[in-house]
Amino acid sequence: QSTQTDPAKLAASRAAVALVQDGMKLGLGTGSTASIMVEVLAERVRNEDLSLRMAATSRATAELAESLGLKIESLDELGWLDMTIDGADEVDPDLHLIKGGGGAHLREKVVAAASDRMVVIADPGKVVDQLGAFPLPVEVLQFGFESSRKLIRRALHKLDLGDHDVLQRLRGSEPWVTDEGNFILDLPLGAIAEPLRLARALSAIPGVVEHGLFLGMCDLAIIGKSDGSVIELN
Ligand code: A5P
Repeated sequence: QSTQTDPAKLAASRAAVALVQDGMKLGLGTGSTASIMVEVLAERVRNEDLSLRMAATSRATAELAESLGLKIESLDELGWLDMTIDGADEVDPDLHLIKGGGGAHLREKVVAAASDRMVVIADPGKVVDQLGAFPLPVEVLQFGFESSRKLIRRALHKLDLGDHDVLQRLRGSEPWVTDEGNFILDLPLGAIAEPLRLARALSAIPGVVEHGLFLGMCDLAIIGKSDGSVIELN
């Protein structure tokens, strides 16, 4: 790893990679923490000559893994995974998550759902009492995008979440396009008192492909600290 690697993310990554056993099928997450984990994993595979099969949650992670000598296969080639290791934007005390800051939450959710175990790695800044300070990412179809945006505003209103901006994510001045060819809307809600109700309401909107609430999916959260120690939440 480079000398600039965040020590908290590195500590969490090392602890998660220590859970990997020879012969496992793994899902590799997306984001800066997951990238450090992929580097740590590649080193372990080299040193111990581990035989693993791996699927990635984004093109970016697949490219990183392959550049480090790891072979990436499709999720369907692997069928089912023993464990997925991924980052998160927020983790609450029930291990509910907000994900999608890196725009990959659709594939991340599909991969995590196809895994026996989802392990989240994060730094202490991601641990919150209540979800929602991080704007909630929602992936929507390009087709009918403006009407989906209206329907999301209406749903928020109905849930008494108030009148919030529903912002289109941009890359420079162009719309952000996900690996699956969709747009992303970011919902700066401030606080999400009832994540399950919100998740249901968003999933019921036809143009919504997937939202970034991961409820009841994470089995273990490993929070790294800058002194190299970790706290495990489960
Ligand atoms: C990617 O879409 C996200 O779900 C990431 O897992 C999340 O944004 C965490 O990324 P960092 O590790 O870069 O904070």
